[in-house]
Amino acid sequence: MFLDQQVVWITGASSGIGEALVYACIDAGARVILSARRLAELERVRDACGEGAKRCLLLPLDLTQPETLREATEQAIAQMGRVDLLINNGGVSQRAYAHETTLEVDRRLMEINYFGHITLTKYVLPHMLEQGGGHIVAVSSITGKFGFPMRSAYSASKHALHGFFETLGLELASRQIYTTVVCPGRVRTQVSVNALTGDGTPHAQMDPGQAQGISAEQCARQILRAVKRRKKEVYIGGKDVIMVYLKRYAPALFYWMARRISAT
Ligand SMILES: NC(=O)c1ccc[n+]([C@@H]2O[C@H](COP(=O)([O-])OP(=O)(O)OC[C@H]3O[C@@H](n4cnc5c(N)ncnc54)[C@H](OP(=O)(O)O)[C@@H]3O)[C@@H](O)[C@H]2O)c1
Repeated sequence: MFLDQQVVWITGASSGIGEALVYACIDAGARVILSARRLAELERVRDACGEGAKRCLLLPLDLTQPETLREATEQAIAQMGRVDLLINNGGVSQRAYAHETTLEVDRRLMEINYFGHITLTKYVLPHMLEQGGGHIVAVSSITGKFGFPMRSAYSASKHALHGFFETLGLELASRQIYTTVVCPGRVRTQVSVNALTGDGTPHAQMDPGQAQGISAEQCARQILRAVKRRKKEVYIGGKDVIMVYLKRYAPALFYWMARRISAT
């Protein structure tokens, strides 16, 4: 089991891709730290791990509250002794046009999806360096590779992750710190239900496109495969992943299509 006795810390572990990652990491032999805001949901996920529940530690935190991230890191080290793999997965999407989105919502998405990830990373990194290495994953999106209607702030926050984590990987590879940026296409989770509209209220709908996405379990399996292979960047999903390659190799076709594909 490739994660045998390794300590894996997963944010956004109360739902969707993060929840599926918890089960996959437990199956791979890891000791797992589960983080998100809702303690009751983290308890539900832990209880669903059966025997593996004994290898789970729950550390609730809010990615917009740096103090909770600092305290959680102290507790993680005190109780687990180390962090081998940090999976920055917690996040919130958007369903509103840029001109209809308030600046407060732009900032909130940046706080959760970008600053939350880099803050936790900066708290964990000194421990990884001291222990002689580690691996950090940032869950971006295919919209971290291109702009897409109704995702302006979300896409911007995901693009920012690429700049930060690619640089970190380059800077610290010689000290055995590896980074992987994961770009899922549509995955069947609550992401569209929890997405923010222009005024900050939840979209509260399972979008048809979302419902047709790959399963969270498939996504989690592919994320762990990418970690095992120390991939720098990985695209995970169905046909939607083609858009990454269209943007790169046939940009005119990409722009034509991206304006016509349903944003929901
Ligand atoms: N599903 C997709 O199609 C898709 C595609 C590309 C990328 N992604 C990315 O995948 C990641 C996981 O999303 P998902 O699809 O699994 O959606 P989800 O089911 O809505 O899960 C989102 C997770 O993020 C946590 N979270 C949200 N705000 C938080 C905050 N302020 N502090 C701490 N945790 C917070 C939620 O927990 P609490 O509410 O308990 O805090 C929940 O566990 C996100 O980064 C998302 O952008 C998803």
